Amino acid sequence: MITKPKGTYDLLGKEAKKMQYINDVLTAICEKYNYEFIRTPVFESSEVFHRSVGNTSDIVTKETYDFKDRGDRDITLRPEGTAGVVRSYIENKLYGRDIQPVKLYYNEMMYRYERPQAGRLREFNQFGVEVLGCDDPFIDAEVISLAYNIFKLLGLTNIRVNINTLGDDESRSDYKKALVEYFSNYTNDMCEDCQNRLKKNPLRILDCKVDASKTWFKNAPKIDQYLNSDSAKRFSKLQEYLNLLDIEYVVNPSIVRGLDYYSHTVFEIEMLSKNFGSQNVLAAGGRYNNLVKMLGGPSTCGMGFAMGLERIMLALDEEEVKIPINDSIDVYIGYVNEEEKETALYLSQELRLNGFICETDYLNRSLKSQFKSADRFKSKYTIIVNSNDIKNYEVTLKDNKLKEEEKVKINDLVDYLDMHM
Ligand code: HAM
Repeated sequence: MITKPKGTYDLLGKEAKKMQYINDVLTAICEKYNYEFIRTPVFESSEVFHRSVGNTSDIVTKETYDFKDRGDRDITLRPEGTAGVVRSYIENKLYGRDIQPVKLYYNEMMYRYERPQAGRLREFNQFGVEVLGCDDPFIDAEVISLAYNIFKLLGLTNIRVNINTLGDDESRSDYKKALVEYFSNYTNDMCEDCQNRLKKNPLRILDCKVDASKTWFKNAPKIDQYLNSDSAKRFSKLQEYLNLLDIEYVVNPSIVRGLDYYSHTVFEIEMLSKNFGSQNVLAAGGRYNNLVKMLGGPSTCGMGFAMGLERIMLALDEEEVKIPINDSIDVYIGYVNEEEKETALYLSQELRLNGFICETDYLNRSLKSQFKSADRFKSKYTIIVNSNDIKNYEVTLKDNKLKEEEKVKINDLVDYLDMHM
């Protein structure tokens, strides 16, 4: 038997319905916030991700699916949405639009060559938003609250918003220097990854899980001592806005994020339940004021987040949230002979186009088996088409709850069902 590749999954049955429900909630809330849907290619020139996500990030050093296409081009399957959206923003000159900022959302499969475990896949579905062209913490607050409100709307309660700032270039550069100076005293006690990070990206040491419990690690300098006044002011303004919106958050200086493009605000929303496992970050994002320029566009600020839909499914299961899934149909149409079958075919189209969920028989089975199907589909009504009724332009309609039958004119069927459902 040929099986699916490691780290992928087939979305089927109830799980597929749950995923559709999540998608419906996401689309509806994006409409309310007036974000515009964008779709970018599954693969891009490798440099889109290598230049932006960063050559020191785990994603680019260990996890991208890179290959040469038949034209010898370097191609990468997208590991995340931001870089492709920014590439598209520049290529389509969205910075020239009359209305700014540009507020976009996407909902796509992403690809990372990771070690698979619960909530960590090689192909996964990320929903995300990106706002380009606004440097005000007003938008940081809107983006964080949008992510938070999605979880609340879905019915999740056991979550926490962690925020931090990485400051502007000057503050971050001062902070990095201080970190290198500090951590250089502890290289012998550091994990191998952190020894490398010390040389390439000292900020990333702060989200190391291996060394986190050690005293020297906990005593490392904190960013707030290195923020210049503009960076500090922005961060406190963001907190004011979040308070105003009633978003519960904690300031967590260890949030530095694994991608290299961030500046100022960064945040993660985590699932707090102890049983949830290590992949407990449901959504994450931040501000990226240098990325558009890095990818060849005009200097433009950006702010966004992404959330993994498979992790949200796990979180909904963990909190035993009841998802309103419709598993019943409105009408089942049963028939026996060819003339009746033609009427069933016609009627099923008529009812579906008028908004009813309608099923019929496709396998020429006995009426008894068709009635069994109607039960299995939890059909509210069953229509029995028979040749005698057809002569009078009518059908027999059974209300499956009341167990009552009556004749209804074919021309009146839609109105009748409209009135009774
Ligand atoms: P990220 O932290 O790499 O950020 O991913 C965001 C979310 O995607 C994670 O919190 C998680 O829910 C989900 N996720 C990531 N990797 C996997 C995986 N292997 N399997 C399942 N789910 C996963 C970004 O991707 C940034 N582009 C976010 C962003 C948008 N920043 C600014 N704008």
